[in-house]
Amino acid sequence: MHQIAVLAGDGIGREIVPEAVAVLETVAAKYHYSLEFRTGLVSEDAYEKYGHPLPPATLELCRNSEAVLLGAVGSPKMDQLPPELRPERAALLPLRKELGLFANLRPVKVYDPLIGASTLKPEAVQGINILILRELTGGLYFGPKKRERLADGSEQALDTLVYSTPEIERIGRLAFSAARARRGKLVSVDKANVLESSRLWRETMVRLAPEYPEVDLSHMYVDNCAMQLVRWPGQFDVIVTENTFGDILSDQASMLAGSLGMLPSASLGGKVALYEPSHGSAPDIAGKDLANPLATILSAAMMLRHSFGLEEGARAIEAAVAQVLDDGFRTPDLMTEGMTRVGTQAMGREVRIR
Ligand code: NAI
Ligand code: MG
Repeated sequence: MHQIAVLAGDGIGREIVPEAVAVLETVAAKYHYSLEFRTGLVSEDAYEKYGHPLPPATLELCRNSEAVLLGAVGSPKMDQLPPELRPERAALLPLRKELGLFANLRPVKVYDPLIGASTLKPEAVQGINILILRELTGGLYFGPKKRERLADGSEQALDTLVYSTPEIERIGRLAFSAARARRGKLVSVDKANVLESSRLWRETMVRLAPEYPEVDLSHMYVDNCAMQLVRWPGQFDVIVTENTFGDILSDQASMLAGSLGMLPSASLGGKVALYEPSHGSAPDIAGKDLANPLATILSAAMMLRHSFGLEEGARAIEAAVAQVLDDGFRTPDLMTEGMTRVGTQAMGREVRIR
C-alpha cells in the first residue's frame, strides 16, 4: 500500500488536484496498484482552521506518507497576511526543508509546438524533451545573508553562494543517473569563469564523470545556456545546476512547452518526495473550470515513477495525455484554431478514458 498525502491548497489547486487523484485511481484500478489517499489542509483552509498555513497535523501527515501531491498555495486573502504567515514562506519552504528535498526535477516536454503562448518557431521546439535538475536547498538562496552599515553611513547587503562537495555530489549523482536513463547527455551549468563555488561545482562533476561512462558530460556558462535554450533547445537532454541558476533557467525553459499548465515537477532527496505543478494557484481563473490540470496529472505520473517505481502506470498516464492532445482537446491556455475547447473536469475525464 502506497500512502499519498494530498494537499490541494488554494485557487485552482482545488480543481486540478481532484482530477489528478481521479487519474491515479483509474490507473490503480487498471494495473492493480494499491494507493491510499490521505487529505491534508494547507494554506487558506489550514489558516482558517488552525491559525497557521502549515499546521503540525499536515506536516505529520506528509512525514508519514511516501509521497505528497500538492496543488498550489497563494490566494488574495493569504497574500494580505504578514510575510512570515504567507503560504510560500510559512508552508512551502518549510515543507521542502523538513522533507529534505534537495533536488527539483522539471521535465520540459513539447507535446505540440503550436500550443499556448510560445512565440518560438514551431520547428525550433518540435520534439523538445529536456530535464532540468535544480539544486533546491543550497546556494545563494540559503547561504548566510547580512546587512551592514559602512563607515560612510551607506548600507551594504550580502548574500552568500555556498556549496560543499557533498551537496554537489548528491545532486550530481542524481543528474548522472537521470542522464544515463535518458539520452546520455548531461550539461552542467555554472559560471566557473568568475565564481569559486562554480569551480568547485565543475571539479566535482568532472570527478564523478568516470563513474558514469555511458554519460557524455559537458559544461556551459549560465549566460550562454540562457541563450542556447532559445537558440537551439534541441541540443539539451539533462541540465543540472545550482539553485538560483536553476530557478531562472527552468522558468525560461517552461515557455518552450507553450504553457505553464503543461509543466510537472518532482522534488526529491528525502524519504518522502513532493510532486506539484510548476505553476501557482492562478487566482485569476480559479473556480471557473478553466485551469489546465495536465501539469498536475503529469506530476502524478512522476510520483508513480520516482516514488513507487510503477513505470508502467507512469507511462500510461503520459501516453494518455499525449493522446488527448493528439485528439485535439485543449484547455483555454492551450487553445489554437480548429481544436476542441474543454474545461478542467472534461480534460481530466478525457485523460482517464484513454
Ligand atoms: P501562477 O502560476 O498562479 O499564474 C500565472 C499565469 O498563468 C496566470 O495568468 C494563470 O492564470 C496562468 N496559469 C497558471 N497555471 C495555469 C493552469 N494550470 N492552467 C491555465 N492557466 C494557468 O502565478 P502568479 O499569478 O504569479 O501567482 C498566483 C499565486 O500563486 C500567488 O499567490 C503566488 O504566490 C502563488 N504561487 C504559488 C506557487 C506554488 O504553490 N508552488 C508557485 C508560484 C506562485
Ligand atoms: Mg521560480
